[in-house]
Amino acid sequence: MATNRYQESARLLDRAKQVLASGVSSEFRKYNHPHAIFYTHGKGSRIYDVDGNEYLDFTLSQGPLIVGHSHPAVLGAIQEYATQGQLFAGQHLKEIELAEKLHQLIPSAKLMRFCLDGSEAVQTAFRVARAKTGKPKFLRFEGHYHGWLDNVAWGISTPSVDALGSREHPNAYPWSDGLSAHSREEFIILPWNDIELVRQTVAENHAELAAIITEPVMCNSGCIAPQAGFLEGLRELCDTYGIALIFDEVITGFRLGLGGAQQYYGITPDLSIFAKAIASGYPISAIVGKREWMEEIETARVIHAGTMNAGNATVAAALATIGVLEQDPDAYNRMFRLGRKLMQGLQEAAEKTGQPLLVQGLGPMFNTSFTRLEQVRDYRDTLSNDKAKLNTFIAGLHDRGVRVIGRGLWYISAVHTDEEIEQAIAVATEVLSLM
Ligand SMILES: Cc1ncc(COP(=O)(O)O)c(C=O)c1O
Repeated sequence: MATNRYQESARLLDRAKQVLASGVSSEFRKYNHPHAIFYTHGKGSRIYDVDGNEYLDFTLSQGPLIVGHSHPAVLGAIQEYATQGQLFAGQHLKEIELAEKLHQLIPSAKLMRFCLDGSEAVQTAFRVARAKTGKPKFLRFEGHYHGWLDNVAWGISTPSVDALGSREHPNAYPWSDGLSAHSREEFIILPWNDIELVRQTVAENHAELAAIITEPVMCNSGCIAPQAGFLEGLRELCDTYGIALIFDEVITGFRLGLGGAQQYYGITPDLSIFAKAIASGYPISAIVGKREWMEEIETARVIHAGTMNAGNATVAAALATIGVLEQDPDAYNRMFRLGRKLMQGLQEAAEKTGQPLLVQGLGPMFNTSFTRLEQVRDYRDTLSNDKAKLNTFIAGLHDRGVRVIGRGLWYISAVHTDEEIEQAIAVATEVLSLM
């Protein structure tokens, strides 16, 4: 495929590199194909770049665009509310309405605070857990992404399985230079989905554990569902030892349903984090939780602040996004059905073309990887994936107008259609047959 398909993006990237570090505003945006791409606009399930290429978009901007690009109800609500001001350094009516809505929808959301993004809401949850329990550490899992700040920037990027060490006492590999040396002392890390190992570790270390944090579905590495009994086991351990169970629902929130993974799996965490799909791409996140935990913030024993929190446009975007999903009673059924149809189509295409493609996930989000394993159970399994092959697959899709997150993650929106799913399967079949 001709590389000049991206020539205007390449030209703009050269220009951007003069003033933006490596030409982008987030590390992940570098890893597009064949380099960072500049876009002009998005509409529904489609996004358009500066070279005039159109893409069927399964990245949904890394998850937030659950009702697609430029949904008129979302843009209309923002326009209307933003004419009354941007940010008041004070409260406004729609902020209560949004909190009341989350309270009604999310099982654990008895009390909440709004922040700007997932990373800072995760840190707020740690602070609450430490304050209430008086204990210093949290337990987290290999391959789970909880943002880019120091104490969670470990164990998500590893050169090889060997570098991880034993399952019982893993080495957490740093994702970045410049992390605070103390940040490694803040957590214990384990492979995910192994409740016996967690049980043993918590029994030995509970005196210093304030929290266990988990993505309820390990979306960021392989899109792995929890094994039967795993989340229940975490809940039980946290109850036994006075530890906060934190669900990081930054991806699963509003994606598995309006009540998130906690409703889907019927497990109520003490604290949880919602971001991404809550507001169609506007910067808002929420730390929500049971009253007895969130009281730490209510009483100001724990300080939470932020100049830009809950601005008019972001709150209006969140309310409108939830409104669109609520007014479409078939939205979640459709996202599950279309996602599963696409998963099945991709798996069949792989079988037809003899490619070792593994398609794993729940439907509204799923992952594609190249591996001979029948199932990927944890982060260690994902390290044996053939990344070069995945890159060829993703690049082939992109060159043919199907945009997927580079690490193989696909998101389905409420505006994708059956025809588009069939189109994606046809394109993927062609790409796989050429590989
Ligand atoms: C599960 C999870 N937690 C936290 C974050 C961090 O959120 P943000 O990028 O909004 O800071 C992400 C981002 O992808 C995520 O997937």
